Amino acid sequence: MKSLRSILLVSALSLSFLNVSGQAPNDKWLDTDGHFINAHGAGVLFHDGTYYLFGEIKKGKTWLVPNQSWEDYRVPAGGVSCYSSKDLKRWKYEGISLAPVKGQPDNDLDTGRVIERPKVIYNSKTKQFVMWMHIDKKDYSYSRSGVAVSDKPTGPYRYIRSVKPNGQMARDMSVFQDNDEKAYLIYSSENNNTMQVCLLSDDYLSPTKTYSRILINKRREAPALFKNDGKYYLITSLCTGWSPNAAMYAVADNPLGPYKEFGNPCKGSGAETTFEAQSTYVLAVDGKYIFMADRWNKTNLEKSTYLWLPLTVAKDKVEIRGE
Ligand code: GAL
Repeated sequence: MKSLRSILLVSALSLSFLNVSGQAPNDKWLDTDGHFINAHGAGVLFHDGTYYLFGEIKKGKTWLVPNQSWEDYRVPAGGVSCYSSKDLKRWKYEGISLAPVKGQPDNDLDTGRVIERPKVIYNSKTKQFVMWMHIDKKDYSYSRSGVAVSDKPTGPYRYIRSVKPNGQMARDMSVFQDNDEKAYLIYSSENNNTMQVCLLSDDYLSPTKTYSRILINKRREAPALFKNDGKYYLITSLCTGWSPNAAMYAVADNPLGPYKEFGNPCKGSGAETTFEAQSTYVLAVDGKYIFMADRWNKTNLEKSTYLWLPLTVAKDKVEIRGE
């Protein structure tokens, strides 16, 4: 029998994501105070009946870093926001869960740095909430993963350090927690040519020596990993900076791979640009999935918006349909 929570959530899902032209949150995604939700490159933690959304705070003037070979548009790193919701529709602003620092250029969290794609998981052994994120310098040469902890889901998180897992570069990233409570860091490595998946330590605070190279020389980023019926599905984008491109998915029997590559999971008009968006997370809700993506506005990054779409898996085949 379905629990009340599951009925409520499924109906919330069908209202929010399946009927309303298939696109919510969209350009006008507001919190319960009526403010625009500022949570880019986001991830969601479900804990004790509440969803917590964490994302990059993008605020301030966008500028172009000079002498770069790509369109390196930046806004000040604003830290990580947190919003909570019981129904995935009404989101309450919980404040800044990881604050940036000002005027300390050597600090990983300085506003002149890059703090992107935060993802939070809960460690039931240590009873700590662990946040991993991409930490970089404005030219993306630093390529590290940062880690922070808190004993409350909303924070404030205490920043510990940044690492290069096993000495490897780590840019766009995500974190995946399996049912056996093992957790993995997934990141674009080797100068964005190849992704890697690294098993985290039991306390989730460090990479272990167990890691694999996946999607070799495929130049993928924006990873979003989820599990369905015992298999692991990894959605990624191509590397074209803030400009959208076609997504791709790959399937494995183990989070570390090997991954078998499939094509673009997006179907319908706009599929070749992921509907003008880029993957950030796949949220599982009672056997259904929500594909969460960012619609970057590269010349005015704080005006970037969001795209959430239903994602289905049938016989290993992933589909994300636009309108
Ligand atoms: C994208 C990446 C974003 C951000 C951007 C910077 O490709 O997915 O998270 O790092 O590049 O140009």
